[in-house]
Amino acid sequence: MNKPDNAVKINLKSNKKISICTCGKSDSLPFCDNRHRELNKENGTHYKSVKIFPENDTNIWVSSTTWKKHNK
Ligand code: FES
Repeated sequence: MNKPDNAVKINLKSNKKISICTCGKSDSLPFCDNRHRELNKENGTHYKSVKIFPENDTNIWVSSTTWKKHNK
């Protein structure tokens, strides 16, 4: 499996919702800390987090190209 360099492994617990940042502004990447609201207001963008609702305990890898874009 080829993962992007910025991929982050997350341990998911069954029935515990998590929110993944798609805007790249979060100080808690890969998790959303609601900074997308400020970014959207300033730039007229429409970023929202991705919500994951795992049925089982598992591990996943996540990445986003926006994580580099806004966190230089
Ligand atoms: S902080 Fe990036 S989507 Fe919420």
